[in-house]
Amino acid sequence: MPPPAPALTSPAGGGHATAAGPRTVIETNRLILREFSADDAPAVASIFEDEAARVFYPDMHRLSNAERWVRRNHERYSADGFGLWAIIWKATGAFAGDCGLMRQQVEGDEAIEVGYHVHVAFRGHGIATEAARACLDWGFAHVECARIVSMVHPGNHASRTVAGRVHTSARRFWRHGAHYYLFFTDAPGD
Ligand SMILES: CC(C)(COP(=O)(O)OP(=O)(O)OC[C@H]1O[C@@H](n2cnc3c(N)ncnc32)[C@H](O)[C@@H]1OP(=O)(O)O)[C@@H](O)C(=O)NCCC(=O)NCCS
Repeated sequence: MPPPAPALTSPAGGGHATAAGPRTVIETNRLILREFSADDAPAVASIFEDEAARVFYPDMHRLSNAERWVRRNHERYSADGFGLWAIIWKATGAFAGDCGLMRQQVEGDEAIEVGYHVHVAFRGHGIATEAARACLDWGFAHVECARIVSMVHPGNHASRTVAGRVHTSARRFWRHGAHYYLFFTDAPGD
């Protein structure tokens, strides 16, 4: 049985998944992951407004950057069939964050990364973990890839906790002049 739904609401509002709205890609016990709509940009910016998020994303609370983020993910949907998707908290229809899959370069090789960003009002309820696990399952079912990774700054303890739960393995690696953690899960049967 799913855990009871906290009465979470979204300060920034954001789009809602309706029959006529953006495409729903994944549904879990408590969450819908759907493609971004163009009017999600203020909700995306709001994910990065708090101090903890700004340590790792100093400029993403700016609306122009959030608009670019939404546009970039629409390009990913067209080119790859996947990207970051809006996380909708089913109990209220509120925009809780984003999670999804992206093509990335890891040590010179192409990799598929699962990424996640949750609004401060929704953190600590297992939302990133539930969404990322669902994205891994979706990725191995729909994307030809031997491995899905998450690259995490060593100072991002919340993200390390999530990645440690979602993935099966981890190692240190060098990125942008710093040691990061590379969490990874190999495709079932590989
Ligand atoms: C990382 C992030 C997505 C986690 O979202 P979330 O929905 O709160 O994640 P979950 O609830 O699934 O799990 C978080 C876990 O980390 C723990 N955690 C939170 N802050 C922590 C900290 N400073 N140190 C250690 N653990 C921490 C939580 O307690 C929770 O564990 P618990 O279930 O045992 O209590 C969220 O903090 C966030 O959006 N941060 C800003 C964006 C970001 O950094 N994204 C990741 C980029 S790699």
